[in-house]
Amino acid sequence: MKKWNVASVRAAKGVQKLGCCTAYDACFARLADEAGVPIILVGDSMGMTMLGYETTLPVKLEETLSATAAVARAAKEAMVVADLPFGSYQCGDNLAVANAVKCIQAGADAVKLEGGARVCGLIKRLTEAGIPVLAHVGMTPQSVNEYGGFKRQGKTRAAAEQVLADAKAVEQAGAFAVTLECIPSELAAEVTAALKIVTIGIGAGPVCDAQWLVMHDMLGLNEKVPSFVKQYAHLAGEVRSAFAAYVREVRDGIFPNN
Ligand code: KIV
Repeated sequence: MKKWNVASVRAAKGVQKLGCCTAYDACFARLADEAGVPIILVGDSMGMTMLGYETTLPVKLEETLSATAAVARAAKEAMVVADLPFGSYQCGDNLAVANAVKCIQAGADAVKLEGGARVCGLIKRLTEAGIPVLAHVGMTPQSVNEYGGFKRQGKTRAAAEQVLADAKAVEQAGAFAVTLECIPSELAAEVTAALKIVTIGIGAGPVCDAQWLVMHDMLGLNEKVPSFVKQYAHLAGEVRSAFAAYVREVRDGIFPNN
Protein backbone atom coordinates (compact mmCIF):
# COMPACT_ATOMS: atom_id res chain seq x y z
CA MET A 1 0.00 0.00 0.00
CA LYS A 2 1.16 3.52 -0.83
CA LYS A 3 1.91 6.01 1.93
CA TRP A 4 -1.18 7.94 3.06
CA ASN A 5 -1.17 11.54 1.91
CA VAL A 6 -3.45 14.56 1.74
CA ALA A 7 -5.09 13.33 -1.48
CA SER A 8 -5.82 9.83 -0.16
CA VAL A 9 -7.16 11.17 3.15
CA ARG A 10 -9.42 13.59 1.25
CA ALA A 11 -10.56 10.75 -1.03
CA ALA A 12 -11.50 8.58 1.96
CA LYS A 13 -14.47 10.81 2.86
CA GLY A 14 -17.68 8.80 2.47
CA VAL A 15 -15.71 5.78 1.21
CA GLN A 16 -13.65 4.45 4.11
CA LYS A 17 -13.67 5.31 7.81
CA LEU A 18 -10.20 5.81 9.23
CA GLY A 19 -9.04 4.62 12.68
CA CYS A 20 -6.20 6.97 13.58
CA CYS A 21 -4.15 7.29 16.76
CA THR A 22 -1.28 9.04 18.44
CA ALA A 23 2.28 7.75 18.87
CA TYR A 24 5.32 9.49 20.25
CA ASP A 25 8.26 7.16 19.57
CA ALA A 26 9.63 4.88 16.87
CA CYS A 27 8.70 1.65 18.65
CA PHE A 28 4.95 2.27 18.87
CA ALA A 29 4.86 4.17 15.56
CA ARG A 30 6.31 1.09 13.84
CA LEU A 31 3.68 -1.17 15.41
CA ALA A 32 0.82 1.21 14.53
CA ASP A 33 2.16 1.58 10.99
CA GLU A 34 2.50 -2.18 10.53
CA ALA A 35 -1.07 -2.58 11.80
CA GLY A 36 -2.36 -0.22 9.09
CA VAL A 37 -3.11 2.95 11.07
CA PRO A 38 -3.48 5.56 8.28
CA ILE A 39 -2.64 8.73 10.27
CA ILE A 40 -0.30 8.87 13.26
CA LEU A 41 -0.52 12.06 15.28
CA VAL A 42 2.48 13.13 17.31
CA GLY A 43 0.04 14.76 19.68
CA ASP A 44 0.85 17.34 22.29
CA SER A 45 -1.02 14.84 24.47
CA MET A 46 2.56 13.59 24.93
CA GLY A 47 2.74 16.16 27.71
CA MET A 48 0.26 14.08 29.69
CA THR A 49 0.94 10.54 28.39
CA MET A 50 4.74 10.63 28.22
CA LEU A 51 6.02 13.59 30.20
CA GLY A 52 3.86 13.49 33.31
CA TYR A 53 2.24 16.93 33.05
CA GLU A 54 -1.37 17.70 34.02
CA THR A 55 -2.07 19.49 30.71
CA THR A 56 -0.59 19.79 27.23
CA LEU A 57 0.56 23.37 27.82
CA PRO A 58 4.16 22.73 28.97
CA VAL A 59 5.14 20.75 25.81
CA LYS A 60 8.06 22.42 24.01
CA LEU A 61 8.57 22.58 20.25
CA GLU A 62 11.91 20.76 20.74
CA GLU A 63 10.06 17.83 22.35
CA THR A 64 7.58 17.72 19.46
CA LEU A 65 10.41 17.81 16.92
CA SER A 66 12.32 14.99 18.59
CA ALA A 67 9.20 12.79 18.84
CA THR A 68 8.15 13.64 15.27
CA ALA A 69 11.55 12.61 13.91
CA ALA A 70 11.36 9.29 15.79
CA VAL A 71 7.82 8.56 14.56
CA ALA A 72 8.65 9.58 10.99
CA ARG A 73 11.66 7.23 10.93
CA ALA A 74 9.34 4.32 11.77
CA ALA A 75 6.17 5.13 9.83
CA LYS A 76 6.44 3.78 6.30
CA GLU A 77 2.79 4.03 5.16
CA ALA A 78 1.06 6.17 7.77
CA MET A 79 0.79 9.91 7.33
CA VAL A 80 2.65 11.57 10.22
CA VAL A 81 1.06 14.71 11.66
CA ALA A 82 2.97 16.90 14.11
CA ASP A 83 0.84 18.75 16.64
CA LEU A 84 2.08 22.33 16.99
CA PRO A 85 2.50 22.81 20.75
CA PHE A 86 1.17 25.73 22.76
CA GLY A 87 3.33 28.82 22.24
CA SER A 88 4.70 27.69 18.89
CA TYR A 89 1.99 29.42 16.80
CA GLN A 90 0.52 32.09 19.10
CA CYS A 91 3.37 34.61 18.82
CA GLY A 92 2.93 35.80 15.25
CA ASP A 93 2.36 34.04 11.94
CA ASN A 94 5.98 34.35 10.73
CA LEU A 95 7.25 32.44 13.76
CA ALA A 96 4.40 29.94 13.40
CA VAL A 97 5.29 29.22 9.77
CA ALA A 98 8.98 28.85 10.74
CA ASN A 99 8.01 26.39 13.49
CA ALA A 100 5.75 24.41 11.15
CA VAL A 101 8.65 24.24 8.66
CA LYS A 102 10.79 22.71 11.45
CA CYS A 103 8.10 20.03 11.96
CA ILE A 104 8.07 19.19 8.24
CA GLN A 105 11.89 19.10 8.20
CA ALA A 106 11.76 16.73 11.20
CA GLY A 107 9.72 14.33 9.04
CA ALA A 108 6.06 15.31 9.50
CA ASP A 109 3.77 15.18 6.48
CA ALA A 110 1.42 17.78 7.95
CA VAL A 111 0.88 19.86 11.06
CA LYS A 112 -2.12 20.16 13.37
CA LEU A 113 -3.11 23.30 15.23
CA GLU A 114 -6.02 24.22 17.48
CA GLY A 115 -8.64 26.87 16.82
CA GLY A 116 -11.31 27.96 14.37
CA ALA A 117 -11.86 31.34 12.74
CA ARG A 118 -9.05 32.95 14.74
CA VAL A 119 -6.35 30.70 13.16
CA CYS A 120 -7.70 30.83 9.60
CA GLY A 121 -5.16 33.44 8.48
CA LEU A 122 -2.37 31.15 9.65
CA ILE A 123 -3.92 28.06 8.03
CA LYS A 124 -4.02 29.97 4.74
CA ARG A 125 -0.36 31.02 5.11
CA LEU A 126 0.73 27.47 5.91
CA THR A 127 -1.17 25.84 3.06
CA GLU A 128 0.13 28.50 0.64
CA ALA A 129 3.64 27.59 1.85
CA GLY A 130 2.93 23.94 0.96
CA ILE A 131 2.39 22.77 4.54
CA PRO A 132 -0.78 20.67 4.87
CA VAL A 133 -2.87 21.59 7.92
CA LEU A 134 -5.12 19.42 10.00
CA ALA A 135 -7.36 21.73 12.04
CA HIS A 136 -8.85 21.12 15.49
CA VAL A 137 -12.13 22.62 16.77
CA GLY A 138 -14.61 21.88 19.56
CA MET A 139 -12.75 21.19 22.81
CA THR A 140 -9.22 22.41 22.20
CA PRO A 141 -7.05 21.25 25.13
CA GLN A 142 -4.62 24.17 24.82
CA SER A 143 -7.55 26.38 25.94
CA VAL A 144 -7.94 24.43 29.19
CA ASN A 145 -7.36 27.54 31.30
CA GLU A 146 -10.06 29.41 29.39
CA TYR A 147 -12.53 26.51 29.93
CA GLY A 148 -11.55 25.85 33.57
CA GLY A 149 -10.94 22.15 32.81
CA PHE A 150 -11.24 19.72 29.89
CA LYS A 151 -14.94 20.38 29.32
CA ARG A 152 -17.22 19.17 26.53
CA GLN A 153 -17.99 22.04 24.11
CA GLY A 154 -20.85 22.90 21.75
CA LYS A 155 -23.59 22.02 24.21
CA THR A 156 -25.90 25.02 23.66
CA ARG A 157 -27.30 25.90 20.23
CA ALA A 158 -25.20 29.07 20.16
CA ALA A 159 -22.03 27.14 21.06
CA ALA A 160 -22.89 24.47 18.48
CA GLU A 161 -23.33 27.16 15.79
CA GLN A 162 -19.88 28.50 16.75
CA VAL A 163 -18.27 25.04 16.35
CA LEU A 164 -20.00 24.60 12.97
CA ALA A 165 -18.86 28.06 11.84
CA ASP A 166 -15.29 27.33 12.99
CA ALA A 167 -15.25 24.02 11.11
CA LYS A 168 -16.51 25.68 7.92
CA ALA A 169 -13.94 28.47 8.35
CA VAL A 170 -10.95 26.11 8.67
CA GLU A 171 -12.14 24.16 5.62
CA GLN A 172 -12.45 27.40 3.68
CA ALA A 173 -8.93 28.42 4.83
CA GLY A 174 -7.46 25.24 3.33
CA ALA A 175 -7.29 22.61 6.07
CA PHE A 176 -7.43 19.09 4.57
CA ALA A 177 -9.13 17.58 7.63
CA VAL A 178 -10.46 18.73 10.98
CA THR A 179 -10.40 17.19 14.44
CA LEU A 180 -13.69 17.44 16.34
CA GLU A 181 -12.94 16.91 20.02
CA CYS A 182 -15.49 16.34 22.77
CA ILE A 183 -18.63 17.73 21.19
CA PRO A 184 -22.11 16.16 21.09
CA SER A 185 -22.40 13.42 18.45
CA GLU A 186 -25.40 15.15 16.78
CA LEU A 187 -23.25 18.25 16.29
CA ALA A 188 -20.33 16.16 14.96
CA ALA A 189 -22.79 14.55 12.50
CA GLU A 190 -24.00 17.99 11.40
CA VAL A 191 -20.42 19.23 10.90
CA THR A 192 -19.44 16.05 9.04
CA ALA A 193 -22.40 16.45 6.67
CA ALA A 194 -21.66 20.15 6.12
CA LEU A 195 -17.97 19.73 5.22
CA LYS A 196 -16.22 18.30 2.17
CA ILE A 197 -13.09 17.57 4.24
CA VAL A 198 -12.63 14.60 6.56
CA THR A 199 -13.74 15.05 10.17
CA ILE A 200 -11.71 13.11 12.74
CA GLY A 201 -13.63 12.73 15.98
CA ILE A 202 -12.45 12.07 19.49
CA GLY A 203 -15.28 11.90 22.00
CA ALA A 204 -17.54 13.14 19.19
CA GLY A 205 -19.60 10.04 18.41
CA PRO A 206 -19.64 7.53 15.56
CA VAL A 207 -20.68 9.64 12.57
CA CYS A 208 -17.32 11.37 11.95
CA ASP A 209 -15.35 10.30 8.87
CA ALA A 210 -12.46 9.10 11.06
CA GLN A 211 -11.57 8.65 14.72
CA TRP A 212 -8.60 9.46 16.92
CA LEU A 213 -7.66 7.59 20.05
CA VAL A 214 -4.74 8.48 22.25
CA MET A 215 -2.41 5.49 22.15
CA HIS A 216 -1.98 5.20 25.91
CA ASP A 217 -5.77 5.14 26.38
CA MET A 218 -6.61 2.58 23.70
CA LEU A 219 -3.78 0.22 24.72
CA GLY A 220 -4.64 0.42 28.41
CA LEU A 221 -1.28 1.94 29.33
CA ASN A 222 -3.44 4.59 30.98
CA GLU A 223 -5.79 2.81 33.37
CA LYS A 224 -8.02 5.84 33.97
CA VAL A 225 -9.49 6.94 30.65
CA PRO A 226 -12.34 9.17 29.39
CA SER A 227 -15.69 7.36 29.06
CA PHE A 228 -15.70 7.52 25.23
CA VAL A 229 -12.47 5.48 25.00
CA LYS A 230 -12.49 1.80 24.03
CA GLN A 231 -9.50 -0.08 25.41
CA TYR A 232 -8.27 -2.63 22.88
CA ALA A 233 -5.63 -3.96 25.30
CA HIS A 234 -4.80 -3.68 28.98
CA LEU A 235 -1.05 -3.29 28.83
CA ALA A 236 -0.51 -1.51 32.17
CA GLY A 237 -1.27 -4.69 34.12
CA GLU A 238 0.88 -6.83 31.84
CA VAL A 239 3.82 -4.44 31.99
CA ARG A 240 3.58 -4.11 35.78
CA SER A 241 3.45 -7.94 36.14
CA ALA A 242 6.47 -8.35 33.84
CA PHE A 243 8.54 -5.85 35.86
CA ALA A 244 7.47 -7.53 39.12
CA ALA A 245 8.31 -11.03 37.82
CA TYR A 246 11.75 -9.84 36.73
CA VAL A 247 12.49 -8.22 40.12
CA ARG A 248 11.28 -11.38 41.91
CA GLU A 249 13.32 -13.74 39.72
CA VAL A 250 16.53 -11.73 40.12
CA ARG A 251 15.97 -11.53 43.88
CA ASP A 252 15.31 -15.31 44.08
CA GLY A 253 18.24 -16.29 41.85
CA ILE A 254 15.98 -17.66 39.08
CA PHE A 255 17.21 -15.22 36.44
CA PRO A 256 19.83 -15.37 34.97
CA ASN A 257 20.16 -19.14 35.08
CA ASN A 258 23.36 -19.64 33.10
O1 KIV B 1 -2.68 15.75 21.23
C1 KIV B 1 -3.52 14.89 20.90
O2 KIV B 1 -3.39 13.69 21.17
C2 KIV B 1 -4.70 15.35 20.19
C3 KIV B 1 -5.79 14.35 19.96
C4 KIV B 1 -6.66 14.34 21.16
C5 KIV B 1 -6.55 14.60 18.73
O3 KIV B 1 -4.81 16.48 19.84
